[in-house]
Amino acid sequence: MPVYVFDEIDSTNRFAKTLTDNCALVIANSQSAGRGRLNRSFCSPKDAGIYMSLKMPVNDLYANVPFITTLCAVAVHKAIESLFDIECGIKWVNDIYLGDKKVSGILCEGFNDTHVIIGIGINFYPASLPEEIKNIATYLTDYPSSVTRCELTGAICNNIASLINNLPDTSFMEYYKSHSSVLGRDILCIQSDVTFSATAVDINPEGALVVKTDDGFKTLSTGEISIRFTD
Ligand code: BTN
Repeated sequence: MPVYVFDEIDSTNRFAKTLTDNCALVIANSQSAGRGRLNRSFCSPKDAGIYMSLKMPVNDLYANVPFITTLCAVAVHKAIESLFDIECGIKWVNDIYLGDKKVSGILCEGFNDTHVIIGIGINFYPASLPEEIKNIATYLTDYPSSVTRCELTGAICNNIASLINNLPDTSFMEYYKSHSSVLGRDILCIQSDVTFSATAVDINPEGALVVKTDDGFKTLSTGEISIRFTD
């Protein structure tokens, strides 16, 4: 597929949406307006991270969107653990955590009912981060590293392609669940202006999080919800 490489761009996801290619990879060394889920920004300093967007065709996009979100987390998690001697966890929906800090976030967006834009940000090397992010984010490796950003990007692309090509086989859900850093934990669920405490008890076959609250069990789908650990 064509690969578009930028030293700096506003957002690789935004650029990917302008492309007419059926498949494409967009990579940047920094982003001035990196975006995350729920309209948050994604801090993307130069020389320190992987900022990539994959545009891929997907059959039956709307039926498969929940699975694409989870399969991307599996693809990134597997790629990191295959190249680095570290153990990470997947924080529902699709953040990758090292200990209790985030190393990667993923933003999947449907495009024209036919394609998905998979945006992945990884904190690869240490960088000076704003104070509010320092406490919640970490990085994969010190500089220099025997693993390069290119190698990790390639491994992620291969993993995503093979998992998407295997749909509707969703056996990767087992991997997703067994590497979840959320199951069994006490969490705060935040949905617009509604916040409630719960314990995460399961992830259902569609990737929704099942939680136990004082009012009984609830099933949370990926949409507009975020969670925080409280234990
Ligand atoms: C999140 O943490 O909520 C998701 C972050 C996704 C960031 C990546 S970086 C590459 C791509 N371009 C963007 O603007 N966002 C994604």
